[in-house]
Amino acid sequence: MCGIFAYAGDENAVPFLIEGLRAVEYRGYDSAGIAVVDEHGDIRTVKRGDHKASLENLAQTVIGGELSGNVGIGHTRWATHGEVNQKNSHPHTSHNSSVAIAHNGIIENFLQLKDELIESGIVFLSDTDSEVLAHLVGIAVESGASLRESVVRAAARIKGNTAVVAVSVNEPEKVVGLRVGNAGGIVVGSNAHSSVMASDTIALLPHTRQVVYLEPGEVVEIEAGAVRLFDLDGNAIYRQPVEIGRNFEAAKKGNYAHFMSKEIAEQPDAIQSAMRGRANFATGALSLPEVELTQHQIKSIDRVVLTGMGTSLHAGMFGASVIESLARIPSVAENSSELRYRDPVLGPKTLVVAVTQSGETADTLAAMEFARQAGSPLAVVLEIDGSQATRVADFTLPVRAGQEIGVASTKTLIASMTTLLQLAVFLARARGAISENRVAEIVGMLAGLPSYVSAALDLDSEVSSLAGRLSEFADLLFLGRGAQLPVALEGALKMKELAYIHAEGYPAGEMKHGVNALLGPDMATVVCAPTNNLYEKMLSNISEVKARGGEVAVIATVGDESAQRVADHVIYVPECPELLQPFVTVVPLQILAYRTALVLGRDPDKPRNLAKTVTVE
Ligand code: G6P
Repeated sequence: MCGIFAYAGDENAVPFLIEGLRAVEYRGYDSAGIAVVDEHGDIRTVKRGDHKASLENLAQTVIGGELSGNVGIGHTRWATHGEVNQKNSHPHTSHNSSVAIAHNGIIENFLQLKDELIESGIVFLSDTDSEVLAHLVGIAVESGASLRESVVRAAARIKGNTAVVAVSVNEPEKVVGLRVGNAGGIVVGSNAHSSVMASDTIALLPHTRQVVYLEPGEVVEIEAGAVRLFDLDGNAIYRQPVEIGRNFEAAKKGNYAHFMSKEIAEQPDAIQSAMRGRANFATGALSLPEVELTQHQIKSIDRVVLTGMGTSLHAGMFGASVIESLARIPSVAENSSELRYRDPVLGPKTLVVAVTQSGETADTLAAMEFARQAGSPLAVVLEIDGSQATRVADFTLPVRAGQEIGVASTKTLIASMTTLLQLAVFLARARGAISENRVAEIVGMLAGLPSYVSAALDLDSEVSSLAGRLSEFADLLFLGRGAQLPVALEGALKMKELAYIHAEGYPAGEMKHGVNALLGPDMATVVCAPTNNLYEKMLSNISEVKARGGEVAVIATVGDESAQRVADHVIYVPECPELLQPFVTVVPLQILAYRTALVLGRDPDKPRNLAKTVTVE
């Protein structure tokens, strides 16, 4: 988590640092700060620890102010060690301010290093683990080492994945960046006047479209117009820059009140994009050119394990259900933080499919690494091309939803589901589990998917009224069965993260085994019950909730009159093929959480204590 941006160039770094931090703020918004090497060669830092207002308060302080200098580093923080306040904000400086650093990651042995440094007379000014790095780099610089060598030496002392940028008064024209492990990447670029580095390519776009990604165990020096890459032993590395395919416009809200509402509205386009070049609506054929598996491998797969975190795990659950039902391969979805530690049985016959918007989630990357070492064919379904996950996987299935800024995933979920459904059809056909005709039938269904989802977006006003009512509850239950279970889980997750209402997603059939004890007027239940083979069972569940005095809202298929008779509120979603129902039922639940958050005065783009990219465990 945490966002880093650094600038070294001909112009005043301050406005560029603020602009860069705005682009990476989605990675953490507890606090914000910059350190600039001024015209006297001194390091000056300005920091704010005002929670979600930090970056704007920082910008108001420094933009147009007297602070200036051609070289600087900036940081937006997601707090791990030490509360959210100004003293814990980055950048941190060494004891005599000869060095400033901004850090992303966790220093696992920081207590031991801190004790050692305190014993040697260093006074700590913050409660963070990161300050240890500032002092270690500072001590090395004072011993006469170059900034690059000092950062490498400091990194050698710490345990844990780290990305760090540093400036020093001894080399005032330079910023050094280093990456160890998978704690978020560093990407570097330059133009004739300046060089920049950041946690995310999106922050580099105003400066260049040609970038270099640091691999773990690499260090970079930037100064005006020059980028030099090295390994940790000081050997120079040359890497051809790659062109950024992303668009900065995507990182702007346009006329929308929030990124989340913009991204919800973009879902029909995200689906189109995820199907481009894959589903051929003219011929009814489907191809997935990115799949790098031989026919022999496809035939020999006897299990598929999908893995991810948060909303991406819910996309994985959907993927597991469609792969199993269409391709007839036993498939499960498992939380990456569990998979990575439980010593699972994987191997060449288990296809592992990671799902990750960012390609940077620490647990997902660790699970992928485990799968790779176990010899499993490894695919990743992801949005951010060039991220670490693409380098770990054997092949990448890009979802192509476009940059998602809202912390709560929406359009990437839909685009990942679209991609996974196509993977299921592809595997099913390649294994002979379905006929060409069935493929054409499904491709025909997919052609209608963007318009089903568009129609679900039109439910905004009905869903808003429901949000007003549900905002009065402290506890909510979301029920689903079969393919609707991941939808129910996602509805509950969204409600928790955006509206801060306690919500549980549950398999409807499990209620009698405990949850029923909670039913009553104090808890409302949202039931995902489109018309399908499980519908009758869902109606029984609704009646059971009603019989115990609970208030019920149902997501039902248009034309379903029974739902109206049994429930207190009904949101009617468009009729569509059963295979596609999860796409249309999840949309009102996204809107429901968004609208409930607004009713309760929450900021849906910056939910408290969360960040979009979770690069630490
Ligand atoms: C965070 C985000 C979620 C996301 C999850 C997994 O929790 O807030 O929206 O689903 O991380 O992220 P990934 O980038 O791996 O999809």
